[in-house]
Amino acid sequence: MNKKNSNLWRPTIIKQIERINIESSTNPVLVVTDEDEGYFKVLGNREGPHVLACEYVGTSLAKLIGLATFEYCIFHFSGQPEITFPNGSNAQIGNGFMTKKESGEIWDGSEKMLAKIINKDDITKLVCLDTWVRNKDRYYLQTNEYINCNLDNVFLSNESKNGLILKAFDFTHAFVHGRDITKNIIQDVKDNTIYGLFPEFNKFLKEDVARKTCEKLGKINKNCIEEIMTNIPREWEIESYVREVWIDFILQRAKYLSENFLLLIGLEKKTKQLKFDFNEE
Ligand SMILES: Nc1ncnc2c1ncn2[C@@H]1O[C@H](COP(=O)(O)OP(=O)(O)OP(=O)(O)O)[C@@H](O)[C@H]1O
Ligand SMILES: [Mg+2]
Repeated sequence: MNKKNSNLWRPTIIKQIERINIESSTNPVLVVTDEDEGYFKVLGNREGPHVLACEYVGTSLAKLIGLATFEYCIFHFSGQPEITFPNGSNAQIGNGFMTKKESGEIWDGSEKMLAKIINKDDITKLVCLDTWVRNKDRYYLQTNEYINCNLDNVFLSNESKNGLILKAFDFTHAFVHGRDITKNIIQDVKDNTIYGLFPEFNKFLKEDVARKTCEKLGKINKNCIEEIMTNIPREWEIESYVREVWIDFILQRAKYLSENFLLLIGLEKKTKQLKFDFNEE
């Protein structure tokens, strides 16, 4: 198993398959490992290998800017026990992405449930992160006719007795909205869409948290991003020149949002102008 860029959770074998029919785009498999139960997104999932890379990079960036995430790792599947999906296809041998199963609930869409969250700052941070990584899989308002609203992708852990903990997870459709990652990713550095802002989140947005998160984005260290990217397994098929452009995208967009996110989300006066010239200085 590649342990370099996982956090401390390091299962090494799958002892048993618990559930294979979870209805979602990548059909994660609930497994019992030598450590805990885990949700495993496998190589050979129906959306292809690039969504695994998006998932891993998105989750790593969440951790980098201080959001609560599931514990996670890149897990090497040996082929045993065999994982066969209801459509007859098999999980492939090789690296997939696994998170430690947490007890919790999917958000019911109410403000009442959000009020019980103990890490409320993460609501603001999650919108900032989803916007950074262009994740349209939580809330995405394309036109008034087309709204992608996935309450399933807002997970509230109930493992603390003090209240619910919002966990940042599911980045499979971040960056390129489920398509393959190509060098064209760079064209969207200045995408002005706010991603992940459910209307119910507005009440919980905090300007000071947004400001601090933007400061962090402005100081993102290239080495940290390179280290995350270095750990992408070869079988996820991100070619090295694409990886380089992806790194540039992450860094340039972090800089762009550090200067414009507050204005875009409406926490800064409309009299200010968007700054476009950051990379022409
Ligand atoms: N670590 C975890 N602990 C508890 N539940 C989890 C965990 N990981 C995933 N789940 C559950 O499994 C569901 C599917 O997982 P996830 O959303 O990550 O998959 P996906 O295929 O990327 O989904 P989508 O169809 O939204 O793209 C989640 O909505 C959540 O209920
Ligand atoms: Mg999901």
